Amino acid sequence: MKKVVLITGSSSGMGKTTSEFLSNNGFIIYAATRDISKISKNKNVIPITMDITSQKSVDEAVKIILKKHTAIDILINNAGYGLVSTVEDLQEIEMLNQFNVNVFGVLRVCKSVIPIMRKNKSGVIINISSFLGKIGLPLLTLYNSSKYAVEGITDSLRYELKNFNIRVHSILPGFFDTKFARDNLVTNLQTFDEKSPYSSLVSSLAPVIVNQINNGNDSIEVAQMILDIINDDKFPARATVGDKAKKFIPMRKELSDEDFERRVREYYNLNG
Ligand SMILES: NC(=O)c1ccc[n+]([C@@H]2O[C@H](COP(=O)([O-])OP(=O)(O)OC[C@H]3O[C@@H](n4cnc5c(N)ncnc54)[C@H](OP(=O)(O)O)[C@@H]3O)[C@@H](O)[C@H]2O)c1
Repeated sequence: MKKVVLITGSSSGMGKTTSEFLSNNGFIIYAATRDISKISKNKNVIPITMDITSQKSVDEAVKIILKKHTAIDILINNAGYGLVSTVEDLQEIEMLNQFNVNVFGVLRVCKSVIPIMRKNKSGVIINISSFLGKIGLPLLTLYNSSKYAVEGITDSLRYELKNFNIRVHSILPGFFDTKFARDNLVTNLQTFDEKSPYSSLVSSLAPVIVNQINNGNDSIEVAQMILDIINDDKFPARATVGDKAKKFIPMRKELSDEDFERRVREYYNLNG
């Protein structure tokens, strides 16, 4: 029987590529998105409306899937965006939104899907985190901390769900050429004001990051890793994909905090 996959943030980037790739590999895909008009239908990719900031919306979408299937075999928590702001400029709403989507959104979808997987004694949950879930960068404190939280969710849930035969993994992508930098980076106006005391940091770092994302790896690599995780029940809890993740994550493990920070400062020219 074909396995059922639910993936959030499916209208672009890694979510879109993964939906198409898994459907070509024989899975039934429920492509969750805020706007189903953005999803091109094919037989095995079924668009479904879901706002991950609302438990009601998540539960309704899951209920629709359960009208046709007895299982959701694989959940891919992929939706997310990045806030670029100094901490001192942060607006309350910006701060809450970042965690509402990137962290609480993941928890809401898990909350709705886990009971089904638990009853079926089978499931795979894959959280799309980031290499910035293990590494901090200036101006990205809120995005960083949201992805650090996703790493924490993965670690805790693995224990909680193991006895129900539900695997939990996280993927830490480096920079990937998706719509992330073009459409889904939210910038704080004060931080980006030319009179900001952080203006030299903003003007030196922000274009470099945007450029690295827009020239990043191809999201098919993420899709392939997701298929590998699904097919291999011994797959490690967390895996890196993409050049930047493969460069920085092993370095992060090997070096002291101080030495690692020195290397990042040099690499991103952060020495002022
Ligand atoms: N691109 C990178 O360099 C990179 C690196 C590391 C990690 N990541 C992570 O990878 C995941 C996928 O990103 P991507 O690179 O594929 O970027 P993308 O093309 O911008 O896709 C992100 C998707 O997330 C959903 N989303 C964005 N803002 C949202 C909001 N405010 N509320 C709810 N959903 C929202 C959107 O889905 P809908 O419009 O369909 O609802 C969007 O299609 C994200 O979690 C991102 O943090 C990206």
